[in-house]
Amino acid sequence: MTMQRHETITKPSTPRDDPNLADYDATRASFDWADVEEEIDFLPGGGLNLAYEAIDRHVVRGNGDKPAMLWEGKNGEKETYTYDDMRRQTNRFANVLGGLGVEKGTRVFTFMERVPEIYFTVFGTLKAGCVIGPLFSAFGPDPVRDRMEDSGAKVLVTQPDLRKKIAEILPQLPDLEHIIVVNKNGRSAEPLAGGDLDYYALMNEASDDFGPIATTRDDYSIMHYTSGTTGKPKGAVHRHNAVIQHYLTGKWCLDLHPDDIYWCTADPGWVTGTSYGMSAPWTNGVTQVIYEGGFSARKWYQVLEDYNVTVWYTAPTAIRMLMKSGVELPKTFDLSNLRFAASVGEPLNPEAVEWGVEAIGMPFHDNWWQTETGGIMIANYACMDIRPGSMGRPLPGINPGIIDADGNEKPDGTEGNLAVRTPWPSMFQTYWQQQERYDSRFVNGWYITGDEAVRDSDGYYWFIGRSDDVINTAGHLVGPFEVESALIEHPAVAEAGVIGKPDPIAMEVVKAFVSLKDGYEPSDELRRELMGFARQKLAAAVAPREIEIIPGLPKTRSGKIMRRLLKARELGLDEGDTSTLEED
Ligand code: PRX
Repeated sequence: MTMQRHETITKPSTPRDDPNLADYDATRASFDWADVEEEIDFLPGGGLNLAYEAIDRHVVRGNGDKPAMLWEGKNGEKETYTYDDMRRQTNRFANVLGGLGVEKGTRVFTFMERVPEIYFTVFGTLKAGCVIGPLFSAFGPDPVRDRMEDSGAKVLVTQPDLRKKIAEILPQLPDLEHIIVVNKNGRSAEPLAGGDLDYYALMNEASDDFGPIATTRDDYSIMHYTSGTTGKPKGAVHRHNAVIQHYLTGKWCLDLHPDDIYWCTADPGWVTGTSYGMSAPWTNGVTQVIYEGGFSARKWYQVLEDYNVTVWYTAPTAIRMLMKSGVELPKTFDLSNLRFAASVGEPLNPEAVEWGVEAIGMPFHDNWWQTETGGIMIANYACMDIRPGSMGRPLPGINPGIIDADGNEKPDGTEGNLAVRTPWPSMFQTYWQQQERYDSRFVNGWYITGDEAVRDSDGYYWFIGRSDDVINTAGHLVGPFEVESALIEHPAVAEAGVIGKPDPIAMEVVKAFVSLKDGYEPSDELRRELMGFARQKLAAAVAPREIEIIPGLPKTRSGKIMRRLLKARELGLDEGDTSTLEED
């Protein structure tokens, strides 16, 4: 059987005659992770460190002068850093942490734009053996507080404007000891707040020698908060061992060769921005373009042209926005160096895959993974035919399956829970201080992803949807609970229920239903006030795009808000089983 509605795109031509993965089936049959470890440079004594693997080892191997980062700022600034520059900057930051008395295992968080200093901070933190927690710079104060409080972060590295945005919550963080402020290129004219540390002053005083790096493959490295159905977001914790999978997937799923110029459009505050905006490209020794500015179709094509980008990793919402700006626009740019384009984060519609062929001369290669998986698990490879609309086939060495609620495998062609056989190198190790929630994600040796999918008889996986209430808006997972919690802090709101409403560009947008406390009357003004309230607390990306005031929310007899029913009503669908319903 096949899920296919669109024509297969046979072996999308790649101008390289040396693809890193030339024969999928043969490679899968003979795969052994031990062979991948042969290509990794472990530390003397057998340790492993993601920063060493991404940066220092290229210097050791004589490539220190090669550009690692070509940075373009949002004001047009341009800076280039070689691998050796990166080594020295990250050594300095590791020494800065040492100078502050920060110990191994301490959580260091960043709340920064895409400036070079975030990369120095991330890798410097990893060299020092601390755990890095990158936060999305568009977040409002509440998500920053929740994440930093939960993790007990001791150090925050941020920028003047962002610090100002979250000033009110900083005194609510008892564990926070040091705030390091990066006033990039003197963009802010204001003096540092009392007690804050100046990044450049600290860096200037620090030595650019650091050592020895003392991490093992099992030491914690990165944590990213991710949303579930219930409760606040949880910190998915990774270990240095993940670098093995970052390296391999960079090589096989993105077909990175050392002479590539690579551009990943994901923000470093999300897992794609670290696994594939830092680790995978640099462990593969490529030159990476980092563009600080936001989305603009014209500017994006300009970046591809100006930097001669060869491999491009982006996301469906961005592709749909490019599609909106037409098929002619890209043809006015010289994109002749581009040879491989990939996409992740949301379902990539078949039309978008095909549009790539027409607009940029190649299809987008969809791939699938999650914060918890740490790296790509299922992909369309350069060597493989593309079935538009499919996420592709599993990475050799990874064994997914479609399972039922008891953890039994279902036959091909039937929908079920997408699961992955444990373990794999970049598997998350825990949810920070929530071991029970972590354990609940596993059954019968399977990790349950929370996605529903179907596998066809040729082993291609097709995404069906989420099996929970988590909303995917423009590739950002939003937990309804987090949004509901923010809304009910408003004095007028009695209850809130939040759903994902289908959207042609962002796939889903956040929609909230609220009921009011006695003494409050619904009005447009109140609705607008609630919108502003949520946006200020959360972030434009996470806050509801729509709020509807209704007399009461549908609840189960045990008092749980039935989001499923709100969604069915919104979409005019069958309301399903409402036997446990208790309407207000
Ligand atoms: O629902 C799936 C969707 O995004 C989720 C993972 O989001 P996050 O943990 O933020 O990780 C982002 C890094 C990829 C998945 O559970 N998703 C991801 N990729 C795809 C996808 N849905 C459909 N097709 C994809 N290729």
